[in-house]
Amino acid sequence: MIQVLFVCLGNICRSPMAEAVFRHQVNKAGLDAVIAIDSAGTGDWHIGHPPHQGTRDILDQYQINHKGLIAREVKSDDFVQYTYIIAMDQSNVTNLASFAPALVEGEKRAAIHKLLDFAPDRTDKNVPDPYYTGNFQKVYEMVEESCERLLAFIVEKENL
Ligand code: 4NP
Repeated sequence: MIQVLFVCLGNICRSPMAEAVFRHQVNKAGLDAVIAIDSAGTGDWHIGHPPHQGTRDILDQYQINHKGLIAREVKSDDFVQYTYIIAMDQSNVTNLASFAPALVEGEKRAAIHKLLDFAPDRTDKNVPDPYYTGNFQKVYEMVEESCERLLAFIVEKENL
């Protein structure tokens, strides 16, 4: 099983959006049995909360299921369990470091990427935070495009 974890700050706006969109794409590609998906935040303020209303509204608009999504915090075990950790911006990558467990020789670790590393046409590699900007539409478009490319990358890399 390939495991993909999307990470942002609060786990209520960007990473649950990416989780829902990516799950939708993985399902359409017939790969649900081989790719498992979750999301988490580096902040603990919203643990147990559903996604932000703005994220739920935009997902509803595109008929993407978001039922059952509940915010959780990143945990050190994620680095061992997941194949890929996909961060929304550079500050998430920096914050992730404080959750990483001590290195164990020979142990496999998640590969950490930024989502917009998979959007070659974009020069700014950080997904803007709609919690502050209010622009959930723009974030949706970035997430949709780059998740498609992430899926293509994983399919090729993992020989799916
Ligand atoms: P997210 O947005 O990282 O995309 O989920 C945020 C949500 C909540 C907060 C910050 C960012 N907050 O400070 O509560």
